Amino acid sequence: MTNPAYPSNPANSAMRQHAPATERNREPILAVLRRVLPARGLVLEIASGTGQHVTHFAAALPELVWQPSDPDAEARASIAAWTAHAGLANVLAPLELNVERTPWGVDAAQALVCINMIHISPWSATQALFAGADRLLGSGGVLYLYGPYRRHGAHTAPSNEAFDQQLRSRNPAWGVRDMETVVALGEAHGLMCGEPIEMPANNFSLVLTKR
Ligand SMILES: C[S@@+](CC[C@H](N)C(=O)[O-])C[C@H]1O[C@@H](n2cnc3c(N)ncnc32)[C@H](O)[C@@H]1O
Repeated sequence: MTNPAYPSNPANSAMRQHAPATERNREPILAVLRRVLPARGLVLEIASGTGQHVTHFAAALPELVWQPSDPDAEARASIAAWTAHAGLANVLAPLELNVERTPWGVDAAQALVCINMIHISPWSATQALFAGADRLLGSGGVLYLYGPYRRHGAHTAPSNEAFDQQLRSRNPAWGVRDMETVVALGEAHGLMCGEPIEMPANNFSLVLTKR
């Protein structure tokens, strides 16, 4: 859907960033979100990036209110531009949110969605994400994670191993995480992980539910 107020606005078009992977993974992710998100309520997206995911999900799940966020100002401009372009009323203005800094600016949510962040940030960011999920979610609330993981100490594909090396060479604190360690961190915060869901391109969905 295109909002007639925006299609010829060149500034809006220039601000909208494109991440090709987002266009490939948004349908498989949406299929999982349809099953695991509550029917109504507020969904806080952490690390929204370009904003392409949140606009796609919000258009498909209009009963939910979506709160995108990102610590990066250009990302937030892109999120706002995509939201305006799509003419979506159920997407709130993007929040400046770095999981490692509190307060987050939102006190409660029915679900948190975090796609492709925990391997592209230090482990302390994952710890802060889970602490935040513990604070914001009530019983039955959902934390949805998407990305690559190692399982039982091994990569699940050679391409993931190469990606991991690439990440670590960019920043030694980054890297593909061990799924078992992430699941254990969830348990420490009362977030119980369901069966991992295999996704295209050697990624996984993890759905953690607050006890
Ligand atoms: C690879 S991008 C993923 C963006 C989007 N979720 C997607 O899948 O296209 C990683 C994102 O994580 C965000 N990020 C990195 N560290 C963060 C932190 N400490 N708190 C919140 N977001 C963070 C970055 O700003 C960036 O937008």
